[in-house]
Amino acid sequence: MTAVTYQGLEVLYTRQQIAERVAEMGAQITRDLNGEKLVMVGVLKGAAPFLADLARAVQVDATFDFVATSSYGHGTRSSGAVKLIKDLDQSIEGKNVLVVEDILDTGITLAYLRKLFQQQRPKTLRIATLLDKPSRRIEEIKPDYVGFSIPNLFVIGYGMDYAERYRNLPDICLMTPDHPE
Ligand code: IMP
Ligand code: MG
Repeated sequence: MTAVTYQGLEVLYTRQQIAERVAEMGAQITRDLNGEKLVMVGVLKGAAPFLADLARAVQVDATFDFVATSSYGHGTRSSGAVKLIKDLDQSIEGKNVLVVEDILDTGITLAYLRKLFQQQRPKTLRIATLLDKPSRRIEEIKPDYVGFSIPNLFVIGYGMDYAERYRNLPDICLMTPDHPE
């Protein structure tokens, strides 16, 4: 199947490449859990498509929870201050927790969440991110599972947005500065 092309947008990873990588990540996570249960914690909103696919790629007894954060910033830049706008519904104490994120950029969001979750004393706390931009890191975060490591590019689709748009694109695309709004 050939990927759809979008007007003015270049496809970086096709839905098929994403599906293959998510399947591999799911298999790895399954192996690492040794038959134990898992709580998958998605970071809204961007991680929703990835969590939905990853959850079906792990062969474990899993539950979902979601958190939402906001960073005080606009467009393609975030400012550094993170605010929790939706907390976990259930306690993660003593649980195997997998934080599921769409993209790891400065690390500020995940450093904040990691600290918050560690206070609840989970049995294990791991991080799965579909995309990683290591060159952008400000806070030290080493994800346990990375789909694709990318240079400093702004991407959209498969959950990721530009000003809330494009989250529903099935492929991951590059947001070019000259893209018509
Ligand atoms: P961090 O706190 O800087 O690591 O930022 C993480 C969040 O910034 C991600 O969950 C995304 O919501 C957003 N973000 C960072 N880079 C991109 C991008 O290239 N496209 C869309 N959103 C991004
Ligand atoms: Mg996000």
